[in-house]
Amino acid sequence: MRKKVIAGNWKMNMLPNEAIAFIEEFSQMVKDAKCEVILCVPYTDLFYSLLTAQNTNIKIGAQNMHWEEKGAYTGEVSAKMLKSIGVEYVIIGHSERRQYFAETDETVNKKVKAALANELKPIICVGETLEQREAGKAVELVTKQTRLALEGLTKGELSSIIIAYEPIWAIGTGKTATSEDANQMIKQIRNEVANIYGNEAAENIIIQYGGSVKSENAKELFTTSDIDGGLVGGASLKPEEFAKICLSV
Ligand code: PGA
Repeated sequence: MRKKVIAGNWKMNMLPNEAIAFIEEFSQMVKDAKCEVILCVPYTDLFYSLLTAQNTNIKIGAQNMHWEEKGAYTGEVSAKMLKSIGVEYVIIGHSERRQYFAETDETVNKKVKAALANELKPIICVGETLEQREAGKAVELVTKQTRLALEGLTKGELSSIIIAYEPIWAIGTGKTATSEDANQMIKQIRNEVANIYGNEAAENIIIQYGGSVKSENAKELFTTSDIDGGLVGGASLKPEEFAKICLSV
């Protein structure tokens, strides 16, 4: 049985004092949650969030990283740096990074490898645009993104990664993929993993859905056969709302 994993993606929101207040309140609400609860916070909140989340069941993640360990890369943060302060997870290849910051399948793959080499667990985002979906290319594109993100990884490493299927047209738009459509695509991703790594690895890998997840649709999405939880943007900014989502599984 795969465990459900629910991760909040705060994006570029929340000052440290807000992060601390959020986690203090939220940690009480989710202390009995059955799922793994993760908050992916801005770099400037990481240290405060890690301290505040100590002795709670909340895990802290970053939203990006560089693949090099150190060097002349002004403005970048490495996997080793994140690991050194106690970060456990890192989102890699979010569609906003692919769209606004020129991330490619190749840089995603480099980052995934660097994260794993530093014992960080990557949450790898894949997903199609509306045009690609309407052109009937969604499955082809998403399975290709998955394949390229995982290129060169060993079977054993798969247990340390999470894939998040996030159709771009559903992110921040209020439009959610139907639970059936989302589940269908996640099955296709799992199938692709099976093609490369075999059935057992595919059965065990955690694959989330992301895109306008809210307390009203969480349960329906997360009780399908293949959706193992969610990556939640907007609805993770309010403690009560995000707690409801975490407690829905
Ligand atoms: P959303 O964002 O829940 O606000 O649609 C999801 C994401 O971008 O990870």
